[in-house]
Amino acid sequence: MIIKSAEFTVSNTKISKLPPPILPEYAFIGRSNVGKSSLINMLLNAKGLAKTSQKPGKTQLINHFLVNKTWYVVDLPGYGYAKSSKSNRQEWAKFIRNYLEKRESLQCVFVLIDSRLEPQKIDIEFCCWLGERSIPFILLFTKADKQSNVKSQQNMAAFKKALLAFFEEIPQMILTSSEKQLGKEDVLNFIQEVNQN
Ligand code: GTP
Ligand code: MG
Repeated sequence: MIIKSAEFTVSNTKISKLPPPILPEYAFIGRSNVGKSSLINMLLNAKGLAKTSQKPGKTQLINHFLVNKTWYVVDLPGYGYAKSSKSNRQEWAKFIRNYLEKRESLQCVFVLIDSRLEPQKIDIEFCCWLGERSIPFILLFTKADKQSNVKSQQNMAAFKKALLAFFEEIPQMILTSSEKQLGKEDVLNFIQEVNQN
């Protein structure tokens, strides 16, 4: 898919203020600092469109970006950031959970997993939370440039194995690097296919 345009639309914590649910949308979620905003910028050829930071907790709102005037990318705050206050984390849980459970136009959630790490409990739990609600998701492994391909493949295989304890069918997995533009075509092709159906 060719990206012809990508523009920031709106930031929210209120479901009632989201854009009307008439265009397909894809949400990026995962632990704080896993690389959600960076991956969005890489996919959309738009450095600086989604705000990134070396410090976890950068993205705090539900951010909608309109792509090719026909679909949305949604950048979400990260989970599992220990330093944010407890009330803050509960707030996260509430409005994000609401968004994920209620958003009619949400086609698929991209769960981002750090490809450098062995399976993390918080990520498995989050996948299970989605699975229990039949919210469609696929897995995007991030920061592949930071270690050998062998290591990334090992961690992906281990994650798959961990999921098999809970899922009969394993969702699609794509290895990505925002730094090296890895996985771009695969992710965009996936979106294009879903958009066409
Ligand atoms: P929050 O919004 O805080 O939850 O973080 P996020 O998941 O949006 O992460 P963000 O995109 O802000 O990236 C976090 C840090 O990781 C930044 O310093 C990025 O430059 C770095 N980073 C993200 N993706 C990659 C990647 O593919 N390769 C490398 N080497 N660094 C990356
Ligand atoms: Mg972010």
